[in-house]
Amino acid sequence: MDHLDLPPLSGAAGTVKLPGSKSISNRVLLMAALAEGVTEIHDLLASDDVDRMLEALDALGVRWEALDPPGRYRVHGVGGGLPVKHGDIFLGNAGTAFRPLTAVLALSGGHYRLAGVARMHERPIGDLVDGLRQLGANIRYQAAEGFPPLVIEPAEIRRGGVVRVRGDVSSQFLTALLMAMPLTGVETRIEVVGELISKPYVEITLALMARFGVVVAREGWQAFVVPGGATYRSPGAMYVEGDASSASYFLAAGAIGGGPVRVEGVGRDSIQGDVRFAEALASIGAQIEIADNWIEARAPASGGLRAFDLDLNHIPDAAMTLAVLALFADGACRLRNIASWRVKETDRIAAMATELRKLGAVVDESEDQLVVIPPESIRRGEIDTYDDHRMAMCFSLATLGGTEIRINDPKCVNKTFPAYFATFAAVAQPVPVIAIDGPSASGKGTVAARVAERLGYQHLDSGALYRLVALAASRVGASLDDSRALAGLARRLPVRFEGGRVLLDEDDVSDAIRSEACSQGASRVAALPAVREALVLRQRAFRRAPGLVAEGRDMASTIFPDAGLKIYLTASAEIRAERRYKQLLEKGMAANMAGLIRDLRERDARDAARSVAPLRQQDDALLLDTSGMTIDQAVEFVLDAAGKAS
Ligand code: DC
Repeated sequence: MDHLDLPPLSGAAGTVKLPGSKSISNRVLLMAALAEGVTEIHDLLASDDVDRMLEALDALGVRWEALDPPGRYRVHGVGGGLPVKHGDIFLGNAGTAFRPLTAVLALSGGHYRLAGVARMHERPIGDLVDGLRQLGANIRYQAAEGFPPLVIEPAEIRRGGVVRVRGDVSSQFLTALLMAMPLTGVETRIEVVGELISKPYVEITLALMARFGVVVAREGWQAFVVPGGATYRSPGAMYVEGDASSASYFLAAGAIGGGPVRVEGVGRDSIQGDVRFAEALASIGAQIEIADNWIEARAPASGGLRAFDLDLNHIPDAAMTLAVLALFADGACRLRNIASWRVKETDRIAAMATELRKLGAVVDESEDQLVVIPPESIRRGEIDTYDDHRMAMCFSLATLGGTEIRINDPKCVNKTFPAYFATFAAVAQPVPVIAIDGPSASGKGTVAARVAERLGYQHLDSGALYRLVALAASRVGASLDDSRALAGLARRLPVRFEGGRVLLDEDDVSDAIRSEACSQGASRVAALPAVREALVLRQRAFRRAPGLVAEGRDMASTIFPDAGLKIYLTASAEIRAERRYKQLLEKGMAANMAGLIRDLRERDARDAARSVAPLRQQDDALLLDTSGMTIDQAVEFVLDAAGKAS
């Protein structure tokens, strides 16, 4: 699937069980592998990045088994260095696997090559390699200096002493050194050069090392001492917390979309820094409740979300969610101190700026900041995701602006959260759609208009669009067979719907499009795939809060397949001809019953036989045969069904 169309939402509420944390999963796997003893891991994240780590451990001679229920793993620790001394390891785009494995393998005395996808080869690793070289490690860059792929050869490792590492590009370099140091067996002091970024991720590393028996002494964020004789020992069982970065999307949905939305799997005692995203949300007005193992968010008690100016260095991943949240704030928002975004899965500052602009925001980008001025209303948009899971996930929130969003390459979420879109759908409240399909003159137009009025919903008469294309074609003299010209007309159609009137180029054509000539023409242009395609987005744009009644032939099948209520409204050809006959007489037009029945049958046949979006009752649509019904009865039937559907 190359794209996913997310429907406009009118709110969000519900409860989500979070998948396991990526940061914890990959750290725990590596420590369990190096440890003495067997570790049983529960709730391990199922995702691409974790799969890369599992494959690497397998290739390096670590035995592990996947058990029931899913997410439960048993890892047989090797109690020291990794046993396989030759390996060509592919790590995809998993930074949480690449950096720590580089450090561990550099100290393992073997011959290894570490590579990843093209983007991984653009992500810097020089600071880590420099740190490891101070210990005597033999590491070579196979292509560009400072970047993967890496070739590691056995070397005389200097044990103990001081290692200096820069901390201002990625905190994962420090994490990698910390995790590998117990392999040297002697006390090592790691000193951070420059300001350490993303500190909470280093906290995760230290907390997990302690769980595996290695307690690191630290002097602020400047120096860390890994004690001599430290060895990893299995804690027996390990439970992986829910992913706090993934939690941010759902908490934001609750803050924007009313809520409450509750995420289960992280809470007050989490070791993940990204739980502090909840504080950021609270600071802009959201109502937040935090318990031991869950966090809940709702919209502000009054007013909307406030504009913000925040230093987000401590929560770089969850900060992306704030960038999209800025679309909903009441003024310009500044995200400060986020330079690390530039070396993540993609250049996230550039990507975020480009995509936010598509939705109408004014964005100012600098080396380490973003300023986002929200639009009056969020525009419909097609979001590119740059093979970055977080781009895909955080832009799903824009649907809460009541607009459809297309996410390109949605499967990039597999990196950390394969079930993301299904999970999001579980709390999403789409703007409701009542789809009413049926043949010509079945009365669906009148029924749809009345139902829309009663519910205060928008009304889409999709047949009018096909009629308009036919009318516009006759006005410019285009042939009804010229698919390309007609699709062009359909795309540009200068139409406005206003208080029951249809205006084409400001010309009231409400009656003109109802003529038999337009009916016949519409039926012909509607059979052209290019015309139908050209009208899809125009039709979906009618879906706005509080809801939409859409009538036509393919509302349920193609335009709004996720409609909450689908009705197939019909009547016998004789009854329909009779109704049309009366209408025409009322308008003072000539009419002939036999001719009307023949025309209707012909059109029914053509609408049903065409290859694209043929007219037929969908399996999930309710049949409403109005042959023996009044309009009022039909309207009540639909309203009743709508009440039951919601
Ligand atoms: O509903 P109507 O009679 O105004 O529709 C006019 C023509 O347009 C009819 O021949 C069927 C076609 N149509 C369609 O193909 N798909 C729609 N969603 C609506 C109408």
